Amino acid sequence: MFGNLKAQPADKILALMVEFKADPRTDKIDLGVGVYRNAEGITPVMRAVKSAEKRIWETQESKSYTGLAGDSAYTQALSALILGDAVAPGQIAAVATPGGTGAVRQAFELVRMANPDARVFVSNPTWPNHLSILKYLGMETIAYRYFDEESRAVDFAGMMADLAQVRAGDIVLLHGCCHNPTGANLNLTEWQAVVDHLNATGAIPMIDIAYQGFGDGLEADAAGTRLVASSCPEVLIAASCSKNFGVYRERTGLLMAVVHETAQQALTQETLAYLNRQNYSFPPDHGARVVATILNDEALRADWQAELEDTRLSMLSLRQKLADELQTLTGSDRFGFLAQHRGMFSRLGASPEQVQAMKTKHGIYMVGDSRMNIAGLNAATVPLLARAIVDSGV
Ligand code: LMR
Repeated sequence: MFGNLKAQPADKILALMVEFKADPRTDKIDLGVGVYRNAEGITPVMRAVKSAEKRIWETQESKSYTGLAGDSAYTQALSALILGDAVAPGQIAAVATPGGTGAVRQAFELVRMANPDARVFVSNPTWPNHLSILKYLGMETIAYRYFDEESRAVDFAGMMADLAQVRAGDIVLLHGCCHNPTGANLNLTEWQAVVDHLNATGAIPMIDIAYQGFGDGLEADAAGTRLVASSCPEVLIAASCSKNFGVYRERTGLLMAVVHETAQQALTQETLAYLNRQNYSFPPDHGARVVATILNDEALRADWQAELEDTRLSMLSLRQKLADELQTLTGSDRFGFLAQHRGMFSRLGASPEQVQAMKTKHGIYMVGDSRMNIAGLNAATVPLLARAIVDSGV
């Protein structure tokens, strides 16, 4: 039986992680996988997470099962963090999932159950695992233009032209903030235009929000998602706590379905719980419990927000430093987009050969499509990267 297996394509982000590890050079720079690193190159456990874990360790008396949907203290607190009061709680069906990837997977499965003919429109480019999961599930996928390679900004006219093809019941996958891999994001006027188009056509938005708090702040980063949730009759939202709570390995995600007819909420909630049961029964609890403990405690929440804000500002300052350095080296503003992009990533716009040259000659690792993790930099490595970019002819 095992001999019948076919080798599967490697995930390019995870393959790069392995390649970086194996490189013996001590001055190598990792701008690959989307993990936050501080100026010392460490991915810290956030202060509030440590405190919450201590509290849980001291007070938890049982590790018995929670519920198929996860702990409601978590699903409610995280739903509120993302949606604010954009939607009445009775219109939300929500389940905890193993990470944001789990939420994305369950969302696609829910779509396939409800409407096997749905086509899923994804931005070109998008997170490679979106495409991989859709392919694995055998769902029809259509790319819409998103990124203008020249200006490195959103090609909004191209996006809307491509979305003109959507039909009622199709899914349009949008990144809530901090677009991965480009770093280029919709403004609120553009979000509104997308909402109007979806409502005119009957297509259904699905939002992947994995970096809330990494772009313009916790509230601003949720603004597009809240607009969609309050304006469209049916919405899917896949969220991750991996980055903004720094709990990557704990696999802490949430899938929400916003349902317009309150009568459908119970059926949707039951179906989401059913999907959890089929795939893994109970979702992981530790990360979710940590997140709920933080969000439901005033002091821990304030401390978490302060640390998250420091993280966000440090990435913004690295962006500005890199843009300034490149301005000085090239005497032009053509890398100004680096300071305009938001979140962990920017797509530099280098060719695969230039990306390869930066790796071979300078030990700088970025994803093959020239996605750079800005949080992999520090004050000392920004000038090295800037010189390597110029040296590689980008
Ligand atoms: C990334 O895009 O690098 C992260 O979301 C990590 C992952 O799982 O790919």
